[in-house]
Amino acid sequence: MGLLGAAFVSLAALTSAASIPNSNVKRQVSQLRDKYDFVVVGGGTSGLTVADRLTAAFPAKNVLVIEYGDVHYAPGTFDPPTNWITANPDAPPTWSFTSLPNPDMGNTTAFVQAGQVVGGSSAVNGMFFDRGSRFDYDAWTEVGGPEFASSNNKWNWSGIFPFFKKSVTFTEPPADIAQKYNYTWDLSAYGGSTPIHSTFSSFQWADQHVLAKTWKEMGIGSPKECAGGDKEGICWVPASQHPVTARRSHAGLGHYADVLPRANYDLLVNHQVVRVVYPNGPSVGPPLVEARSLADGHLFNVTVEAEVIVSAGALHTPTVLQRSGIGPAFVLASAGIPLTLDLPGVGSNLHDHSGPSVKWNYTQPYTFFPLPSQMATNATFKAEATAAFDQTPARGPYTLAGGNSAIYVSLPHITANHSAITSKIRRMATDGTAASYLPPDIRTDPTMVAGYTAQLLALANLLSNPKAPSLETPWATAEPPYSTAWSFLLHPLSRGTVRLNTTNPLAQPILDYRAGSNPLDIDVHLAHMRYLRGLLTTPTMLSHGAAETAPGADVAASDALLAGYVRAQSTLSFMHPCCTAAMMPLSKGGVVGTDLRVHGAAGLRVVDMSVLPLVPGSHLSATAYAVGEKAADIIIREW
Ligand SMILES: Cc1cc2nc3c(=O)[nH]c(=O)nc-3n(C[C@H](O)[C@H](O)[C@H](O)COP(=O)(O)OP(=O)(O)OC[C@H]3O[C@@H](n4cnc5c(N)ncnc54)[C@H](O)[C@@H]3O)c2cc1C
Ligand SMILES: *[C@@H]1O[C@H](CO)[C@@H](O)[C@H](O)[C@H]1NC(C)=O
Ligand SMILES: *[C@@H]1O[C@H](CO)[C@@H](O)[C@H](O)[C@H]1NC(C)=O
Ligand SMILES: *[C@@H]1O[C@H](CO)[C@@H](O)[C@H](O)[C@H]1NC(C)=O
Ligand SMILES: *[C@@H]1O[C@H](CO)[C@@H](O)[C@H](O)[C@H]1NC(C)=O
Ligand SMILES: *[C@@H]1O[C@H](CO)[C@@H](O)[C@H](O)[C@H]1NC(C)=O
Ligand SMILES: *[C@@H]1O[C@H](CO)[C@@H](O)[C@H](O)[C@H]1NC(C)=O
Ligand SMILES: *[C@@H]1O[C@H](CO)[C@@H](O)[C@H](O)[C@H]1NC(C)=O
Ligand SMILES: *[C@@H]1O[C@H](CO)[C@@H](O)[C@H](O)[C@H]1NC(C)=O
Repeated sequence: MGLLGAAFVSLAALTSAASIPNSNVKRQVSQLRDKYDFVVVGGGTSGLTVADRLTAAFPAKNVLVIEYGDVHYAPGTFDPPTNWITANPDAPPTWSFTSLPNPDMGNTTAFVQAGQVVGGSSAVNGMFFDRGSRFDYDAWTEVGGPEFASSNNKWNWSGIFPFFKKSVTFTEPPADIAQKYNYTWDLSAYGGSTPIHSTFSSFQWADQHVLAKTWKEMGIGSPKECAGGDKEGICWVPASQHPVTARRSHAGLGHYADVLPRANYDLLVNHQVVRVVYPNGPSVGPPLVEARSLADGHLFNVTVEAEVIVSAGALHTPTVLQRSGIGPAFVLASAGIPLTLDLPGVGSNLHDHSGPSVKWNYTQPYTFFPLPSQMATNATFKAEATAAFDQTPARGPYTLAGGNSAIYVSLPHITANHSAITSKIRRMATDGTAASYLPPDIRTDPTMVAGYTAQLLALANLLSNPKAPSLETPWATAEPPYSTAWSFLLHPLSRGTVRLNTTNPLAQPILDYRAGSNPLDIDVHLAHMRYLRGLLTTPTMLSHGAAETAPGADVAASDALLAGYVRAQSTLSFMHPCCTAAMMPLSKGGVVGTDLRVHGAAGLRVVDMSVLPLVPGSHLSATAYAVGEKAADIIIREW
C-alpha cells in the first residue's frame, strides 16, 4: 500500500477509535456472558496481543480481558497535555511505586511506574522501541538448561526473532528525513503487518549530531540495524509511532480499538482481578477468576472453560498469583492466605535497569536551538510544540518522545579488566557463595539457589561476549549547563522481590529492589562510569569546552569514592521491572515452563514481562509484544 492509501486507512481508524469506543467495552458484570473460554487478566502490552490473536484464531471461542484501567486513546507521556511521565505520578493512566530503601545504595529508593489503562505500559511509555541482542535471548535457554534446550518451544533468538518481526509494522522514514539525520535501518529485521507501528521521527533536537560525533570519536561503531540481533554500537531506534499520524502506537489501539469489532472479544474495564480460584485443587483447572468492581466493590467469579492467562505486568502478576495462594508458602502464611501451590519463585528474581550518570557543563557558548530545555523554560516554544503535535500528521518535538538513539557497548570493549569481573561472577556461582546474595528468606531454598547460580553463569558468559552490550547510554542530546549521559546497567546481578502488603493484599505490592546487593554490580558500574567519562575528552566535547561536574576526576580515580558516587547517585529504575514469575524449570525456582504454564497449576499461564528469566539489554515493550505473539502461537497450536 502506498503512503496515501495507508494515510486514508489509518486516519479513518483513528477517527473511529476516538469517536466510537469499541462496542465490546463492558463496564459491569451484568454485561458479561455466563462463561468464557479464555480470560486474560490485564489488558496491557502482552495481554492484548494474546487476546487479539486468540479472538482472531478462534471465532467460536469467547475471550474476556479484565483490565484495571479504562479506555484512553492518547494517555501517554509524550502526548500533550499529559507531557512528561511525572505529570500525574499517582493517578491513572499510570501506577506509581516507591520501593523500599536500598541499603546497598545509600538507602535510596526506586521510583517505578506502570500503565494503568487499556494498552498497559505501551500506552504511557517513552516510545523507545528497541530489541535486545541475540545473546540476551539465547541466555534464557542457557539458564533453562537441557530441559529447555530440548523443549519444542524455543525462546532463544532464532525462536523469538520471527515473533519480533510479526509483532510490528516498521515504516521507512521519507528519504529526505533519512538523509538529514543519517537514519539507517535494514528491512530484513522487519516484515510484519500487525497494526503496532514503528518509524523514525522527522524531528531531532538541534545538537543531536554533537553526541553522535562524540560517540564516533570514542571508537564506537555504527551498525546499520540494531534490531536484527546484532546490537553493539551507536544505534538508531525507531519510536512506537504511526508513520502517517506520527502519534503513539500502542497495544490499546493496535490490538484492540483498531481491530474490527469481533463478537467473541469482550473487554471489562475498571475491574481488579483479585485472584484465581481452584475449588478442587490446582491440578483441576482451569480456575475461576474472582474480580472486583472498582466502582462499587462488587465481587464476583467468572467461569472459564479453557484457560486463564495472567498478563498483569511484572509488578502485579505476582500479586494476583500470591492472592491465589500461589507463591512462597511463608509469604502466603504471613498474609493469612491459604496455600494453593508453594512456588518460591513467584515475586522473586525482580530486577530492572539502573545506573548513575556522567554530568558536565559547557564552558564555551553552546548556541544550538532548540534544545529540550525550551519545553520547560519557553512557554512560546511549548505552545508551538503542542500546536505542531495537534496537526495531522503530528510534527515537532513531541514526535521524538524520549529520543531515538543510544550507544550499546560490551564489557570487553569497555574495560581491559573485564575478565577479572567475569571470573569473580563465575567463582561466585561455583564456590557456594551465590546463595548469600539472594533475599534472606529464599536463600535456603535449593531450587532458588540453583536458578540464581544458572543465571550468574549465563550472565558471566554475556558479560564476556564482545558482541553482547553491557552498557546503554540513551537519548543523545546534551543541554547546558547540566548535561547528562546516563549509564544503564543492562545485565544486573542483584535480585529483589515483589510481595503482597500483608495488611491489605489488595493494595499496591511492596517492592524490594535490593539494588547493589550483589557487589559485582558495583564493579560493573565503575567500569561503565570510567569508560563513559571518556566522552569528555573527545575532540568534539573539548571544542565545546565540556567540563565535568560529576563524578569528577578525583572521584573517578578512587574505587571507593566512585562506588560512593554510584551508590548515592544512581537512578534505581529505568522502568523495566521484570522477571518476577520466571520461565525456568521448577528445579531452578521457576514459575512457568517454556509453554508459559504455571508449574503445577492446570489451565493457568503467565504472559507478560514477569516470565523473563533475565532482563534483556533493551527497553521492554518490543519484547513484551514478541512474548505475547509467541505465547499466542503456542496457545493456538495447543487448542
Ligand atoms: C513510564 C514508563 C516508560 C517506559 N519507557 C519505555 C520505552 O521508552 N520503551 C520501551 O520499550 N519500554 C518502556 N517501558 C517499559 C514497557 O512499556 C513495559 O515493560 C511493557 O509495556 C510491559 O508490558 P506488560 O504486558 O508486561 O505489562 P503492562 O503493559 O504494564 O500491562 C499490565 C496491565 O495489567 C493491568 N493490571 C494490573 N493488575 C491488574 C489486576 N489485578 N486486574 C486487572 N488488570 C490489572 C494494568 O492496568 C495493565 O494495563 C516503560 C514503562 C513505563 C511505565
Ligand atoms: C540505611 O538505613 C538503615 C536502617 O534505617 C540504617 O541502619 C543504615 O545505617 C542506613 N544506611 C545508610 C547508608 O544511610
Ligand atoms: C534455537 O532455536 C532453534 C529453533 O527455533 C533451534 O533450531 C536451535 O537449535 C536453538 N539453539 C539453541 C542454542 O538452543
Ligand atoms: C551524516 O553522515 C555524513 C557522512 O558520514 C556526515 O558527513 C554528516 O555530517 C552526517 N550528518 C549528520 C547530521 O550526522
Ligand atoms: C468464587 O468461587 C469460590 C469457590 O467456589 C468461592 O469460595 C468464592 O467465594 C467465590 N467468590 C465469589 C465472589 O462468589
Ligand atoms: C522561545 O521560543 C520561540 C519559538 O520557537 C523562539 O522564537 C524564541 O527565540 C525562544 N526564546 C528563547 C529565549 O529562547
Ligand atoms: C580489575 O577488576 C577486579 C575485579 O573487579 C578488581 O579487583 C581490580 O582492582 C581491577 N583492576 C584494575 C586495574 O582495574
Ligand atoms: C556548572 O554550571 C552550573 C550552573 O550554571 C554552575 O553552578 C556550576 O558551578 C558549573 N560547574 C562547573 C564545574 O563549571
Ligand atoms: C500496606 O497497606 C496498608 C493499608 O492500606 C497501608 O497503610 C500501608 O502503608 C501499606 N504498607 C506499605 C509498606 O506500603
